[in-house]
Amino acid sequence: MCKDKLIDTKEDVYILGIESSCDDTSAAVTKNRRVLSNIIADQDIHRDYGGVVPEFASRAHQQHIVPVVERALKEAGVKKEQLSAIAFTRGPGLLGSLLVGTSFAKAFAMGLNIPILEADHLNAHILAHFIQKDTPPPQLPFLCLTVSGGHSQIVRVDSPEKMTVIGHTIDDAAGETFDKAAKIMGLPYPGGPIIDKLAQQGNPNKYQFAKPKIPNLNYSFSGLKTSFLYFVRDQLKKDKQFVEKEKNHLCASIQKTIVEILMKKLILACKETKISEVAVAGGVAANSELRKTLKITGKQYQWNIHVPEISYTTDNAAMIAITGYFKYLQQDFAPMTTAPYTRSL
Ligand code: KG4
Ligand code: ZN
Repeated sequence: MCKDKLIDTKEDVYILGIESSCDDTSAAVTKNRRVLSNIIADQDIHRDYGGVVPEFASRAHQQHIVPVVERALKEAGVKKEQLSAIAFTRGPGLLGSLLVGTSFAKAFAMGLNIPILEADHLNAHILAHFIQKDTPPPQLPFLCLTVSGGHSQIVRVDSPEKMTVIGHTIDDAAGETFDKAAKIMGLPYPGGPIIDKLAQQGNPNKYQFAKPKIPNLNYSFSGLKTSFLYFVRDQLKKDKQFVEKEKNHLCASIQKTIVEILMKKLILACKETKISEVAVAGGVAANSELRKTLKITGKQYQWNIHVPEISYTTDNAAMIAITGYFKYLQQDFAPMTTAPYTRSL
């Protein structure tokens, strides 16, 4: 990004953000760092399949995109002619889904004769912390635990443009582990919110599951998933009603284990980098146990904790619009030839 091109920030910047990387079609309008609207259409169709079906997702995006954008503009009270630029998720995500948002952004921008801005989905989860609110954003540099359905990372953020992944999962992501554990228990997709809810009534110390022993700041969740799968399978052989009877305790125990795994490396990352400004982002940042544990650990280690509003944790277009805003300030526009990418660049 070219810093010397910073434009006059006295001008109000209106960005339409579009997010279509997975199973939520979302459009948001921002005025500078303030969110004027943030509309999300989720796709119930995947529930019965225990996960996102890519072909269904892209078709649903096609159906949702126009009404979602219309609603976002209407709710924001912004006319399309007022827009300064359109930001869209370029990746990572599902190709067919990304293509819907990317193509829509290009066509709409072309019609309005305004520029387009590309956003990386994972960076955008982090930059959601810069959406205007009552409390100040994290001070730079900070560490962000980015935990979603597809990724689990510890990121060192030196500026909106300079982010370095210092730890990442070598197999499953934290959100994926919630989703797979839910599937094993016969619970619907996405599993995270439902496990979070049932865990409130359960004993988190009732069951113990395998924790990874891997060096450095990386994560691994596949061993935990397998240990959970075999345990449940063995218990079901003895008692067909086991999951039904023990659901709450199973949810509380697996949730506690996932949070402990996440926290262990985050504590290590803070020690190694000597950074005590700590944020969390991504869908799993909505988890009540993680939020609670972060606050307690933050007090213990004297960290400054930044936890996003729930609506900015799971996929949303407000985070794409704010990412676009930072790029707009740098006049870092994307060419019309920009193609989506499915994996992290
Ligand atoms: O960031 P996100 O909306 O989409 C991706 O970029 O993947 O994250 C979705 C993930 C899913 O795995 C979902 O189960 C998980 O976030 N999730 C939660 C909670 N809410 C969503 N996991 C645990 N507790 C929650 N309350
Ligand atoms: Zn996400």
